[in-house]
Amino acid sequence: MRQQQLADAVSSVSSLGALLKESESRLDAAGIDQPVLESAWVVEHVLKLSPLMQRVNVERLLTGAECERIQALIARRVAREPLQYLLGSQEFYGREFYVTPSVLIPRPESALLVDEAVRRCAQTPSAMLVDVGTGSGCLAVSLALALPTARVLAIDASADALLVARVNMAQHGVGSRISCFHGDLLTAIAQEGVANQMEVIVSNPPYISDGDIGTLQPEVRDFEPRLALAGGCDGMELHRRLLTQAPAYLKPGGALLMEVGLGQAAAVCRQAEEYGQFCTYAVLQDQGGIDRVVCFEKKAES
Ligand SMILES: C[S@@+](CC[C@H](N)C(=O)[O-])C[C@H]1O[C@@H](n2cnc3c(N)ncnc32)[C@H](O)[C@@H]1O
Repeated sequence: MRQQQLADAVSSVSSLGALLKESESRLDAAGIDQPVLESAWVVEHVLKLSPLMQRVNVERLLTGAECERIQALIARRVAREPLQYLLGSQEFYGREFYVTPSVLIPRPESALLVDEAVRRCAQTPSAMLVDVGTGSGCLAVSLALALPTARVLAIDASADALLVARVNMAQHGVGSRISCFHGDLLTAIAQEGVANQMEVIVSNPPYISDGDIGTLQPEVRDFEPRLALAGGCDGMELHRRLLTQAPAYLKPGGALLMEVGLGQAAAVCRQAEEYGQFCTYAVLQDQGGIDRVVCFEKKAES
């Protein structure tokens, strides 16, 4: 049935202008916020024609194969699959990252983690850093590029995510400078002989509470990996586990930087103080004024 609908839609479209119009109205009817822009981006992806040139070439006749590819992508977007998965890419920290449904789509607020980690390493250019829950590798790659003599480790519990991360590391020319590990948080590097050596541990762990998962927009809830979202009953399970694991890997004075969800910063800071091995030195806000990154320093005596 779906094949037939697709075939009918394809056969009714012959020019670029008509295809754009039809795509826009399908996206609009599906409740997509920016149907005109998104149609243009899908068409740009398939035809390699900028949105401006599309408007100049509305009379251009499309081949059946071109129509079919565009229609198929629009159908996936109508089903609320994120545009980034359709196009296979997302910008982060000024660079393009390959993304698939195996990884979280990088969010701009996570750049705070990179900025702060780089600031912390300003005096120690050959520092060792680890990115826990690397996903697409966007943080590890950005760190390796900003700190060309640093050693970077990247960990993920998802083998599929690590495949994507490795593509990004190679694409950005830092594949040989980042070591990837598959496993559970910092236990993945327990045998690497790196105790007490990290200058910085960065992590954007999953932080959606079990109760909130169902309330997320369909693009996130139904398409982004559950392993990248679900942070346990209150969303802070992985933060707590990292707080207990991190001191064994950090140098005295080293930093643990973690992204948190809305309303979680105070509770995570309280937890860190209770454990007694860290002092909280900053809580960084994102552009929306939300407390987004908690920054802890390992006490010298711990
Ligand atoms: C929120 S995503 C962050 C991805 C990426 N760092 C970013 O900022 O876009 C969290 C990542 O942590 C990984 N993850 C979840 N649980 C983990 C665990 N116990 N140990 C290691 N990685 C884990 C997920 O597979 C996912 O890639």
